[in-house]
This record gives sequence, C-alpha cells and structure tokens, in this order.
Amino acid sequence: MDFPKGFLWGAAAASYQIEGAWQSDGKGLSVWDTFSHTTGKVFEGHTGDVACDHYNRYQDDVALMKSLGLHAYRFSISWPRVLPDGIGRINEKALDFYSRLVDELLAAGIEPWATLFHWDFPYELYCQGGWLNRDSADWFAEYTALVVDRLSDRVKNWMTHNEPSVFVGAGHQGGQHAPGLRLNPKEVARVMHHALLAHGKSMQAIRSNAKQPLKAGIVLAGATSFPATESPADIEAANKFTFSPKGKLFGGLSSWADPIYFGEYNEEWIEALGEAIPPIEEGDLKIIAQPVDFCGLNFYMGNCVQADAEGNPMPVPKPVQRDLTAFRWEVTPQVLYWVPKFFYERYNTPIYITENGLSNIDWVSSDGKVHDPQRIEFLTRYLSNLKRGVSEGVDVRGYFQWSIMDNFEWAHGYKERFGLVYVNFDTQERIPKDSAYWYKEVIESNGEIIPDTLR
Ligand code: GCO
Repeated sequence: MDFPKGFLWGAAAASYQIEGAWQSDGKGLSVWDTFSHTTGKVFEGHTGDVACDHYNRYQDDVALMKSLGLHAYRFSISWPRVLPDGIGRINEKALDFYSRLVDELLAAGIEPWATLFHWDFPYELYCQGGWLNRDSADWFAEYTALVVDRLSDRVKNWMTHNEPSVFVGAGHQGGQHAPGLRLNPKEVARVMHHALLAHGKSMQAIRSNAKQPLKAGIVLAGATSFPATESPADIEAANKFTFSPKGKLFGGLSSWADPIYFGEYNEEWIEALGEAIPPIEEGDLKIIAQPVDFCGLNFYMGNCVQADAEGNPMPVPKPVQRDLTAFRWEVTPQVLYWVPKFFYERYNTPIYITENGLSNIDWVSSDGKVHDPQRIEFLTRYLSNLKRGVSEGVDVRGYFQWSIMDNFEWAHGYKERFGLVYVNFDTQERIPKDSAYWYKEVIESNGEIIPDTLR
C-alpha cells in the first residue's frame, strides 16, 4: 500500500484561532470578537485578542512550517479584517498582510490554501441580520471577489466555507459558538440556505476573478459513521447512516453536499424539515450547484454502526472501554478509510482531508521538549486507514493535519491543544512537539513509515 506520488502533505489553522491583533491596522469586529468578550461564553473568559499573535509573527511561523517540510498550509482570511464593515470600505493594510503571508509561504516552497470563511463573520453585517438576511450571499460574493482579485495571481487553491454545518448548528441553533443564537428550525434552515447560496455565489466570484486557472471547493464535516464489521450489511448500514440527514438536519453531510453536487436538497431532509422548509427562489439551486474542483473533508471521530435484522442502520452502543482524547472525543481511525470511500462513491469528486487531529494534554518536559506520543499514535492509526483507502483508488489527493500550532479552540479557549507545535500563550514561545518531527518524517517518506494494517 502506498500514498500516490505527489500526495499533498500539509497542516491547517484559521484566522480567529491564531492571528490575534483583533484591533490592529483598522480591522473590523467579527462575531467571535464580541462573543468571546461576552461573559460566560468561552472557557475562563479566554478571547482571540492575542491568540498566537500570528499576525505579527507570521514570518517565524512560516519558517517553522518550512523546517517541518510542509508542502502546503491551509489558512483562512478574516473577512472583517479585510472589509471592516463586511462590505464597502476596503482595509488595504489587511490585504497587504495576507499578500505578505502568501509571498512568505511561496518563498518557503509552501503552497498556500486559502479558506474564505472560517467563522469570523463581520459584526456589522451580523447587525444587519447576518446569515438570516438573504443579502448575505451577495455580501460574501463581494468579499470573495475582492480577495480573489488580489491574491489569486499567487494562490491557486481556494475554499469557500469551512464546516458550514458547525457555524450554522453551533452558532445559530445550539448557541455554543458565535453569534450564540438559538433559532428555531425554520430560521436555522433559512440560515443554511443562505450559507449554501453564498457558497455558490462565492464559487462564481472565484471563477470570474481568477487571475490564473484555480482549484476551488468547500470544506465539509458532519456526523459520519463506520461499520462495526466488514460484512456487506454493516457496510451498507454505515454508508446509509453517514448520508441520512435524520436527526442531524443541519449537520448531515448530505444536507450540504447533495445540493452542491446534485443540485437538489436531499429528499429525506425536505421531508424531515416539513413546515420549516426555507424560501427557495427559482435559480437558487443552480447557483448552489456550481461545479467544484474538490471537496475538503474534516475528520475527528465517527459512530460505529451495524445493520439490524431488517438491514437498517443502528448505532452500536458506546462501550465503556474506549480510547478518548483530552477533549473526550472518541478515537475512531476507521472513519478515515470508510467515509472518504463512501463520499467518493456517492459524489465522485476529488477529496482533500482538510483537517484531522486531536487535542492532547501537552506540557513542556524538564528536558525542554514536548513529548506527545498519543498524538503520534492517533495520527498513525488514522493515516493507516487513509492509506488503505487511497491504495484502493479512493481519490484523496492530500491531507492537512489540524493544527500547525496550539490555538484558540473556540468555546474551549486555550484549554485544548491541537498543535504539532506547542505555543506558550504567555510568552508566545513555539516548541515543535515530538509529533512535529514525526510528521516531518511522514512527509519525507510520503507516508511510507505509516504501517498498512492498523485499524
Ligand atoms: C472545526 C474547525 C477547527 C477546530 C477543529 C478542532 O473543525 O471545528 O474547523 O477550527 O479547531 O476542528 O475542533
């Protein structure tokens, strides 16, 4: 088993989670700025005000990435940094920052992969209704056009949204993420439709402002599953469960991917929504179904599913004895074999794994190093499953580890450490963890050091 030649190895991060500089150089507010400044919203009142101070330290950070041999770096652009009011007035200093970051990456031989929206929505537009306002699709297209116009002479890979299921679900239904809303299903469905429309219009804006041939897509995540055994019935059950929107209307993979790839909403989704179906105008689905060049998929964990006597999917009850990360997320490496395979069979699209990783309790040892054997073990198991899939012909073209460095983990603040590189949030010192050196070897060997057989 092998990873194909030219397989892309990278790592990822996102603007609000690392940049800091929340009020520098004319940046506007995002909903994450206001949310994290609201008492009780984030663990111990942490904010992204400083985060990893990447805005000021990007050169050192790129040098670190280079030393680890990354082929690519997936970052996101802060919409309100570039357009402080979300539309209209342009902040040239912000565009200059991203331009310098891109130049620095290219000079280091690292391919820039840009995500347009990783959740830091402009506060000014939130005050105009945010994603509930149908105009949000045009706002996002205006922002896309500007950024693509300025950066696509050098940036060849673009992603519209990151995990829309999460900013819609956790941000607008559950309230755990910014903007902290708990809307009813009818309103959430509207938010979702507008987010999809925004994706479509953003794809159009990418194509029409591209300065050279580009690749563009979206990054999805969703409740995914893997089969309890490799019996055909269990495999079929896990496949069905992965794409059924039941019980995860806004979080299901098919809720998002069906309209994008098939130009229609999933039937089960429509049925389950009933009265809550959003207003869909003529032509909307055509816009949403713009051809994408790839789909990014993010993986952390999934459900173990088996077939019941009638062959229907049935989640296997969680055993007491199971491996958990510091976040208490279950370690389920099989998702990285099964879900890209299921996804590829259903949508026949090139795939990039745009995030995979774990939070771990890392600290600096008395030898000054950060030893994180659990991260190495976790990634080894997941990558072994990925290797199996790509060897069997699933069209996965690259893998981005989440994350290049410890950062602001949303409502959990700095409590959860996901990085290959340790960050001391008092001093901003960076220390590559053991896993960073290990990942370097993975990249150098094109995954040959990953065993074939771990499940
Ligand atoms: C997500 C986001 C990341 C998170 C990571 C760990 O997947 O939720 O894209 O920003 O930090 O996933 O939770």
